[in-house]
Amino acid sequence: MTNENRQPVMAGNWKMNVNHLEAIAYMNKMAFSLVDADYARTEVVIFPPFTDLRSVQTIVDADHLSITYGAQDISAHEAGAYTGEVSGSMLKKLKAKYALIGHSERRAHHNESDELVNAKVKAAIKSDLIPMIAVGETLDIRQSGNAIEHTLSQVTGALKDVRSNYVDESVIAYEPVWAIGTGEVATPQDAQDMSLAIREKISKLYNQEVADKVRILYGGSVKAGNVKTIMEQPDVDGALVGGAALDPDEFLRIIRWPDQP
Ligand code: 13P
Repeated sequence: MTNENRQPVMAGNWKMNVNHLEAIAYMNKMAFSLVDADYARTEVVIFPPFTDLRSVQTIVDADHLSITYGAQDISAHEAGAYTGEVSGSMLKKLKAKYALIGHSERRAHHNESDELVNAKVKAAIKSDLIPMIAVGETLDIRQSGNAIEHTLSQVTGALKDVRSNYVDESVIAYEPVWAIGTGEVATPQDAQDMSLAIREKISKLYNQEVADKVRILYGGSVKAGNVKTIMEQPDVDGALVGGAALDPDEFLRIIRWPDQP
C-alpha cells in the first residue's frame, strides 16, 4: 500500500453467518470502537447476508457511521419473475455502496461463469453500486503454473464492455481459492505479484490512470497476525476477510493493521 490516491479498504464478508439480531450487536460494537482516525485511514466495509442489510443500514444511518456495506451477491436482472433473486435497485434503496460479485463460492456452488459475473457487474453499475469483483485460482491451477493467466482471464471477463469511468472506482479482490477458509495464506510476495499483474492488465485494457485508481484487495485466511505484511505490499490496497471478520475484536485489529505485529 504505497499509493496515496488509493484509500485502503478492509472488508468483512460474513458469508452465510450472523442473523439480523447478531448483526445489530456486531454493528453496535463497531460503532462504539471505531474512531475518526480509523475511518480517515481505512474504509471499513461489511458484506452481511441479505437478511441483515436493513438492520445494518438502520444503525449506520441512526449513528451517522462512516462504515460502508454491500451485498454478497446481486441479480443480473433488474426486476421480474426471478424467485429468490435480489436486484441492484433494492440494494441501492438500502443505501448499499458495494456489490460483491463472482466470489469463488458462488462460482463453485452456483456455477457462476465469467459471463454471468460480467452481467452482474453491469447490473451493479446500472444501480449505482460499486462492484467488488472476486477472482482467483484453485490449487490445481496454481500447481500447474497458470495462476496468473487464469486470474487475469477472470478480470478480463468480468470487465468486458465496462467503461473506464466505472472501472476506476471498482474494487478487485484477489482470493486464491486454496487460501479461503483453510488457514493457508498466500505469501505477501504472491499477493503482490498477482495484484501487480492485475493492475498491469487493467492498464492494458484501459490505461495507467485507471489502473492506478483501482483498488486491489487480497483475501484468503487474513487475520490480525498476518495482515500487516500483506498490507506492506505496494499493490495490495486492502483485505477481504471471511472467518476472522466474524469476531468484531479480531476485525477491529485487522482494520488497525499498521498497529499489528
Ligand atoms: P477467509 O478469510 O475465511 O479465508 O475467507 C476469505 C473470503 O472468502 C472472503 O471473501
